[in-house]
Amino acid sequence: MSQNIETLLIENRQFEPSDIFKKLANVTSIDLDKDRLEFWAEQAKKLHWFKPFETVLEWNRPYAKWFQEGQLNAAYNCLDVHLVTHRKDKKALIWEGEFGDVRTFTYEELHQEVCRLATYLQNELGVKKGDRVTLYMPMIPELVIGVLACARIGAIHSVVFGGFSASSLRDRLQDSKSEVVLTASAGTRRGKPLPINDVVEEAVSQHDTHVKHIVVVDTLKLEGNFSSHQAEPMMSEDPLFILYTSGTTGKPKGIVHTTGGYLTHAKYSTHAVFDLKDSDVYWCTADVGWITGHTYLIYGPLSNGATCMMFEGTPDYPEQDRFWDVIEKHKVSIFYTAPTAIRSFMKWGDELPARHDLSSLRLLGSVGEPINPEAWIWYYEQIGKNRCPIVDTWWQTETGGIMITTLPGIHLMRPGHAGLPLPGITASVLMPDGTPVTQGGGLLSLMEPWPSMLRGIWGDNKRYEEVYWKTFSTYFAGDGATIDADGYYMILGRVDDVLNVAGHRIGTMEVESSLVDFQGVSEAAVVGMPDDIKGQAIIAFVTLKDGYLGNVALEKEMISHVSKMIGAIAKPKRIIFTPDLPKTRSGKIMRRLLKDVVEGKPIGDVTTLGNPDVMTLIQERFLS
Ligand code: WT7
Repeated sequence: MSQNIETLLIENRQFEPSDIFKKLANVTSIDLDKDRLEFWAEQAKKLHWFKPFETVLEWNRPYAKWFQEGQLNAAYNCLDVHLVTHRKDKKALIWEGEFGDVRTFTYEELHQEVCRLATYLQNELGVKKGDRVTLYMPMIPELVIGVLACARIGAIHSVVFGGFSASSLRDRLQDSKSEVVLTASAGTRRGKPLPINDVVEEAVSQHDTHVKHIVVVDTLKLEGNFSSHQAEPMMSEDPLFILYTSGTTGKPKGIVHTTGGYLTHAKYSTHAVFDLKDSDVYWCTADVGWITGHTYLIYGPLSNGATCMMFEGTPDYPEQDRFWDVIEKHKVSIFYTAPTAIRSFMKWGDELPARHDLSSLRLLGSVGEPINPEAWIWYYEQIGKNRCPIVDTWWQTETGGIMITTLPGIHLMRPGHAGLPLPGITASVLMPDGTPVTQGGGLLSLMEPWPSMLRGIWGDNKRYEEVYWKTFSTYFAGDGATIDADGYYMILGRVDDVLNVAGHRIGTMEVESSLVDFQGVSEAAVVGMPDDIKGQAIIAFVTLKDGYLGNVALEKEMISHVSKMIGAIAKPKRIIFTPDLPKTRSGKIMRRLLKDVVEGKPIGDVTTLGNPDVMTLIQERFLS
């Protein structure tokens, strides 16, 4: 990595939150002089500690200990603390199933369920503090109950997304050495039964895991009142969970998060970024199987006493307006979703959201990938009706919570720009040699330890040190980014995906954004193909909106559009029209596989793909 990444896309549009939003926001100013550790200590003290901490941070690079003498329990902070307040009878969870069935739980009811399951795990199965418990479940309330029951007894939860195959589940069971699996009798997806329990049976069938008990949580009939159940006091640095991330390359890494620091940031960032109020109905559409589901469906909102919407289904079942239907029906006020979903909504057309009353919404969020300015504007106009601030939140499984975004009551929003580091977080864009870039492109790094940072990779500290701490002396995120004169960050995508055309390093996000800006384009992914003259030539894979047809004339027009918008250097050599792009189950585009196609290599590992069939078609189109 000798040269730096360049900035091509110029985005000058900016949007300001309304005066009333600014006035009523949870955070209306930032004290820039505040000492960072003092700031975090103040946030940590908003949690309930059984025993207070003395040291804020002990840092032996790259190992951090936050609030180390303190003792607390994460589930207690999500439930018990509210039972002595007006929130006792407030709805904690509103769940809607695929078929429109609704179940709700007040804080008191959720507490009761969690205590029941916690007691069962402890007394019947002998689960102890520090034991690993794997959860492989559909998006039903029992999943939240299971996670919190583990936290309550100090078992380390490892949630595996319910769409993973038996062999992926087996790998994760083996790596974590889980003795207990929590699962469900059945789930549904797009109206069809999800054979969730069969997958678990298959995963453990070869007797090469450590699993001793499989608990089918939704059919477990636990009677009795267990609300006197004592939450286990955990040391601040005791692990709370492991979450496997496959990213877009390599063997899954078991990212380890601990208790006090993680929860401090989860609680603080939810309050500050989503501006949560007692009256809100908050909906994060992520599956609990991803970090977004952990931090912003469970720990962040519940520790703040929010009413959380949880939805079992998909955005297009039974019809493509299902999300808008849920928002209207439950009067959702805060909505947090992913760019891949937003681009699908755009593709399906403006009429669908227009059919629904979305006036309950007051704040929108985006996470998971760079959101192209085009998609940002659509979200702002068609869903937020030009009223709702959008928070474009950059973070990672590893960071535990949001690192870079705008604060909705303070900052100007710029489409495509995530924004600024949150208070207490320090970031930089670095040159390959580690010198900071004051304005322009480079590699994104977090400069100082933060409370919710990963504490390592389960069982593999060497890999932890190599992946995150070898490139720079500070944490290397693996993303390219730009910083501008106002300190705003724009995320350019994974550095492994960066293009190199005639000596220019170009982020995939900018070329893709200019393609998506072209009329009729729904999604785009670009990769570099070896080229004798330029080193790499850009090949673009593009999906079109319904009603558009890909042909040579359109390809030409699109190529010249990119050239006009961001420069001839970024012009794709070829555009391949395809009905879909290869994506991980969490919706991230896997450019690595497209690279295999253009390099004429056998297609690499497709086991993390949600839609593996698409690869054959893409290969055919490329070769034709
Ligand atoms: C990677 C982390 C963060 C929770 C969900 C994904 C990309 C994430 C943004 C954003 C641009 C983003 C980055 C990051 N990413 N949010 N707002 N703008 N890129 O967690 O699976 O660990 O993925 O997602 O590339 O490194 P994850």
